[in-house]
Parts: sequence; structure tokens; C-alpha cells
Amino acid sequence: MKKSTELIRNKDFYNEIAGKKVRTINPPLYNGSTVLFDSYEDLTAAIAGRYKGIAYGTDRLPSQRGFEEGLRCLESGYITRAFPSGINAIINTLLTYTKSGDHILICENVYGPTAHFCKKVLNKYNVGVDFLPGALNADIKSHIKDNTKVIYLESPGSNTFEIHDIPAITAIARKKKVITMLDNTWATPLYLKPLEMGIDISIQSVSKYISGHSDLLLGAVTVNEQYSKEFLKFYRTMENFASPHDCALALRGLKTLHVRLKHHEQSALTIAKHLQTVDVVDTVIHPALPEHPQHHLWQRDFSGSTGLFAFTFKEQYLEEQLAIFINTLELFGIGFSWGGYKSLITAGRYQRSGSPLSGKTVIRLNIGLEDTNDLLTDLEQSFTALVKY
Ligand SMILES: Cc1ncc(COP(=O)(O)O)c(C=O)c1O
Repeated sequence: MKKSTELIRNKDFYNEIAGKKVRTINPPLYNGSTVLFDSYEDLTAAIAGRYKGIAYGTDRLPSQRGFEEGLRCLESGYITRAFPSGINAIINTLLTYTKSGDHILICENVYGPTAHFCKKVLNKYNVGVDFLPGALNADIKSHIKDNTKVIYLESPGSNTFEIHDIPAITAIARKKKVITMLDNTWATPLYLKPLEMGIDISIQSVSKYISGHSDLLLGAVTVNEQYSKEFLKFYRTMENFASPHDCALALRGLKTLHVRLKHHEQSALTIAKHLQTVDVVDTVIHPALPEHPQHHLWQRDFSGSTGLFAFTFKEQYLEEQLAIFINTLELFGIGFSWGGYKSLITAGRYQRSGSPLSGKTVIRLNIGLEDTNDLLTDLEQSFTALVKY
């Protein structure tokens, strides 16, 4: 037999060495499109839809299934499925439960591409979309129409960090048979349990805290029992598929999430409190600070805070002054996304009318895992450069 044939024929040659099974602490990473059947009988069972095993890579290999099950437990859900990115998870979930003629309510402060999808695609397919401003509560009742199918929330809201009154909203939604979805990326299931508060579907951008290392794009959706059938039907039809490698990294991330979040939380709070004492800073926007307008809701519903928050300046600085402030930072990278070990900064003029932040420059910080005092020193030298300019 040729070496090339031998190489192909030899199966599992690293799973057992000298008669001993290889038992790494972490599960093996399964990659694959083809999954071999043991026999012709298994093949025919798969063709007939009776096969209980994994028939093909798109059935989700053990690496995907392991991650999904880990997250499902944390979210207290009925099923969890992984998607190629957070925004892909959001889009597919909205598509699952809407059809032409339906109407959805969505908070205005959602992640930008979520709003963009609703405006550009749902509207195009005749799904009515109403954006509701600010922190939502029981008043949402007056916006529910006969054809309202979904209420979509993100708490805290992207960039502006408003907290919604989730139990008040879910109580009304349940009565009116409206499905509730929440983007739970900021708190993760460790600091907020949406399904236990009556939310039907919790969505994660796993690219953020769960993976924690800014080295992958992945999303996940956890659904309660009531809406799981409809979800699975659509999921199978759409053939969405997350990479096994990314799922293996995400499963690894889940195991250290609690330790990393504690550091993000403490460091971000220390820095947020320090920023409140800085002369040029106007408002520090962080739900765990007592001054935050919905602090009482955060205190009631969340069991912790994480590393992403924002602040504004008292003065409206020129672009070149903002550039001095941001470019002088040495430890903060300038870049999108968040939840990883490296501290990051972004800045932008807040555009939405009717908000107290309207027209102001909002500086968003992702506090990573560096030493807190080093980050404070870095911010200090940038404030000094800004004031000197
Ligand atoms: C709140 C929130 N949800 C979802 C997403 C989308 O996640 P992904 O980058 O994995 O597509 C982001 C990305 O920044 C986000 O901030």
C-alpha cells in the first residue's frame, strides 16, 4: 500500500498512544464536513431522517454542541444555537419570527447594524418597524398594535447605556402575546438572566466578553421552550453554521468568563469614578454609578457591571483637540468592538435628536485587563495634553 493511501486510511492515530487514550482536559476540536457512518444501515437511516447521530458537518459537530450547551445552561434556556457572528444571530432571529404584514417595536439605542437591518430589510419585506426612544418601561403598552409580533431590546443601550424596565415590559408582552428579544451582550448571562425575567430570546455577540480575546466573530441565540420549535425550523432551513474552531475558543472563554468579568467590572468602576473628578469631564455614563438615570433598575435586575461605558466633555472640542486626546493614549487601542483583554477607545458625535446627549461627543471606553493604575496614568497624561493644546 502506498504511503499516501496509508495516511488516508489511518484513522484517529493520535487519539490513542501506546494503548492509552489521550485525555486532554479540553475536549478535542472536531473539524469536518463529512462525518463517516459506521455502516450502510446508518446511511439509509440518515437519508430517511431517522439517524440520531451527526450526519454531516452542518448538523453541528461536538465543538459547536459543547459551546451551545455551556451557554444554554448559563442563560437558563431551552435551546442555544451558535451563528457566524453576533449581527448574523440578531438578523436570523428577527427573520425567524416576522413575516410580511407584521410589526415590531425596537429601542432606538440598539447596536447600529441591528437598526440598519430593520430599516433596510424588514421594511422592504413589509414588516413595520417603530423605533422607541430612551429607556423603555410599561408605557410601551401604548405602542403595541394588533399586528405587533416582536419587542426587541438591548439593555444597556449601545453607546448611551440606558437601562430598560425588563419585568414591566415582559409582563405586558406576555399578556399581549408579543415575543420579547434582548441583546444581552453587555451583561452576559453572568450578570443578567433575561429568560428568568420573562424575556423569550436572549442574544449574545460571543465576539465580546465570552470569547474575551478579540480573536473571533461569533454569535449565539438562546430561546425558551415556547418559541423553540419555530426557531429550530428556521435555523435548519437557513443552514447557518458557526466555525467549530471559534466554538472551541468560545467554550474555553466561558470557563474563565467570571474571573475576567470581575476584573473588567472593578477596573471600569474605578476609572469611571475617577473620571467624575476630572475637571474637563462632564457626564460619566455608567449604569453602576448612582448618578445614572436608571441606576435603580440596574441595581434591581443586574448582578454586576462590565467594562464598557462612556463619558462626555464639558467643552465642545475641535476635531484636532479630540485627536490630541485620543492619539496621546498609549494603552488604549483605537478600534471597534469590545469585551476583550485590551482597552479600547472610540469617539463620535451623538446624532439622535431628543436625547440629552444629542450633539455631544461621546467617548466610549472598553476597559480591558491591564492594571487599573496604568490605565489611569495613561488617561491622565492624555487629559494633560488636551488641556495644554
Ligand atoms: C451590543 C452589540 N450587539 C451585537 C453586536 C454584533 O456583534 P458581532 O461583532 O459579533 O457581529 C455588537 C458589536 O459591536 C454589539 O455591540
